[in-house]
Parts: sequence; structure tokens; C-alpha cells
Amino acid sequence: MTITLDHTGRSALVTGAGAGIGREIARWLARAGARVAVNDLDPERATAVVAEIDREGGEAIPVPADCRDDEAVDAMVATTVEAFGSLDIAVNNIGMLPAGRRPKPFVSYRGDDWRDIVDQNLTLAALCGRAEAEVMQAGAGGVILFVTSGETTRPSPYNSIYAAAKAAINHLVTSMAVELGPDGIRVLAMAPGTTMTETVAAAFTPERMDAIVASTPLRRMVEHDELARLATFLASDLARCITGQFIVADAGAFLSRSRPANDEGLTNQLKGSNAR
Ligand SMILES: NC(=O)c1ccc[n+]([C@@H]2O[C@H](COP(=O)([O-])OP(=O)(O)OC[C@H]3O[C@@H](n4cnc5c(N)ncnc54)[C@H](O)[C@@H]3O)[C@@H](O)[C@H]2O)c1
Repeated sequence: MTITLDHTGRSALVTGAGAGIGREIARWLARAGARVAVNDLDPERATAVVAEIDREGGEAIPVPADCRDDEAVDAMVATTVEAFGSLDIAVNNIGMLPAGRRPKPFVSYRGDDWRDIVDQNLTLAALCGRAEAEVMQAGAGGVILFVTSGETTRPSPYNSIYAAAKAAINHLVTSMAVELGPDGIRVLAMAPGTTMTETVAAAFTPERMDAIVASTPLRRMVEHDELARLATFLASDLARCITGQFIVADAGAFLSRSRPANDEGLTNQLKGSNAR
């Protein structure tokens, strides 16, 4: 018996796919045969990933948009359906801290920090999920996958808003799964551990990276392509009985104890931040 993971004939949309984990997910879905709409805030990044997919023999279109904007999200989904005829797989990958925000002690966060970070993570994800679910309901169903974070299972100091917003997405997945399941829509989240994307490389000190590796059971970080393979599997028929779950992909980091607030790497990271 041969087991195949095949997305031929399906169309997919990946948000924030111009870099990092999203870029790799878009490439892997295309390798599995899906036609992929590549979203990013930065049109040049989206176009570059489309060109990469082209070179690998896949099919993709750029759908640049700011996913914090309701109307832009609706237009992005409409463009995808217009180009491909349907939307079968949606990966809502955007997250992290918005430009200008940094991790800092809980007592230092003010209302604007809360609103901005919740907007960039929970609100943005919900806006995308709503627009995607609407077209899937009108079509033949589909799969909506959110990228959350290992911070939801093993919080680290100074990331309280981000972790709370991501944890809320894990819960949103359960509500959406209950409501949308009868329409043939599966809703899932995957929660990555630390992955060396450009954003992480720029933000973390070497000491912090070493501390993460040392406290992780598999003694390593997670690779972009490992998350992309997982997303490709979760979106496939091989996973067709799974909905309403978040799957932790963190090399076992959730089994370790949370780092103390006086962690040296973290303390270095805060130097130069707007922490009080
Ligand atoms: N890298 C990690 O260690 C890690 C760990 C756990 C969870 N995650 C989660 O994985 C996801 C991807 O992380 P990453 O490190 O690959 O991110 P990244 O910063 O490398 O890439 C994110 C991309 O999203 C785009 N983007 C940002 N805001 C946007 C918006 N409003 N509209 C459209 N595009 C926008 C950016 O231009 C960028 O190209 C995020 O949800 C993050 O929270 C990452």
C-alpha cells in the first residue's frame, strides 16, 4: 500500500507567507499539488515567494494585503476564490509582535500595547477566519489552520499579551470547529516552538537561544520545514477526523519548566527595549 499526501485540485491561502514559517508552508502546500495564494503585507515578499513556487513547478498567485484590515481581508479571499474557483485550505499564520512593540514586564504594558498586540494576533486571525469560513460554507467546506505558539503551553516572562492572544486563538478553534463542523469545515491550530526565522534571529540573544535549546527535551529548535510538513498533513485527508484541536510542535519544550524572569538571555534582550 502506498500512502500519499496529495492536495492536487485544492486551493490554499497562506497569510504572512512572504517570510519565515508561512513562506515554507506555502511552498510545501504547492509541492503537494495545491494552488496557493501567497499573502503578505509586503507585496515584494509575496511576489518573490510566488516566483520560488513557480521555479519549483507549482502554481501560486500573490495576494498582498494588510490582514489587520477587514475590507482588505475580504478582498484577499475574494481574489483567491476568483483565481482558483474555491478556497479549500486556509492557513492563518500571521502573528508575533507588531512593529515597534517589544516583550516587557507585565506591569509595564499599557492599554495601547494590549490593543495592538491583540489586534496583530487574535483579532487579525479572527478576521481572516471569518472571511475564509464564509466562502467555505458557500462552497464544499475546507480546512482552516491557525498558527499559534508554544508560548500558550509554556509561557516565558515578558510575553504575557502575546501568549494570552495566542491562547485565545487556541480556544477560538474549538468554538469555530463546533459551529462550522456541520458545514464540512475543520478548524485547527498548530503551536510551534522556537523557530529560527529572521524575526526571531533579530530579537533573541545567543544566550537566550542556548537556554531554549538546553531546556528542550530534543535539545534543538524547530525547523521551518517541519512545521510546513505538519501543516500540509493537518490540511490533508490523512487528518480528516481531526478538528477543534491545537497541535504542539515544539521539540518537547512544553515539558520543561517556564524560564525564570531573571533569565540572563531575556534580561539582555530587554536592554534597549521600552520596558520600564
Ligand atoms: N518563529 C518562532 O519562533 C515562532 C514560535 C511560535 C509561534 N510562531 C508564530 O508563527 C507565525 C509565523 O512566525 P514567523 O517567525 O515566521 O514570522 P515572520 O515575522 O518571520 O514572518 C511573518 C510575515 O508576516 C507578514 N505580516 C506581518 N503582519 C502582517 C499583516 N498585518 N498582514 C499581512 N502580512 C503581515 C510579515 O511581512 C512577514 O513576512 C506567527 O504567528 C508567530 O507568532 C513563531
